[in-house]
Amino acid sequence: MTNGKILAFGGIFTIAFAAFLFWPQNEETSQPSVTVANVGEDKVEVVMYKRATCMCCAKWADHMETAEFAVEEVVPEDLFAVKDEAGIPQELASCHTAKVGGYVVEGHVPLEDVRRLLEEKPDAIGITVPGMPIGSPGMEVEGRPADNYDVLLIHNDGTTSVWASH
Ligand code: CU
Ligand code: CU
Repeated sequence: MTNGKILAFGGIFTIAFAAFLFWPQNEETSQPSVTVANVGEDKVEVVMYKRATCMCCAKWADHMETAEFAVEEVVPEDLFAVKDEAGIPQELASCHTAKVGGYVVEGHVPLEDVRRLLEEKPDAIGITVPGMPIGSPGMEVEGRPADNYDVLLIHNDGTTSVWASH
């Protein structure tokens, strides 16, 4: 991400946060929410919950911003509560938690695996890449080879199986 883009993000966050402070609060949610992309009618919305300072999350959002997906970033007061509510225990957790098409997508999951999730529609909570493996989308480190990692399908009972290996 360029510095200009980071500044733009900061500006949008400030404006959104000011609006959040002075706007009458919705009973359901009191989370400031920021739209970072043009959410076209034809795009599937990905809502990504993250910490304000997390940069790898923004890189993953860039990876997801394609013809078919638009990413909305939300900075909740308590990210752990979001994960808990989404059915993501600590051992399956990563930095950000996204919601798309009724599924949870936790961490640096490659686009192709999200696409397949929405196509195959398994009866499950969602998919996760626990931790933050080097080389996963948004976690590329120059000069370092990519880790091998699995994308796990989280079943409704909390058990997992391998959805994809990279
Ligand atoms: Cu990350
Ligand atoms: Cu992240």
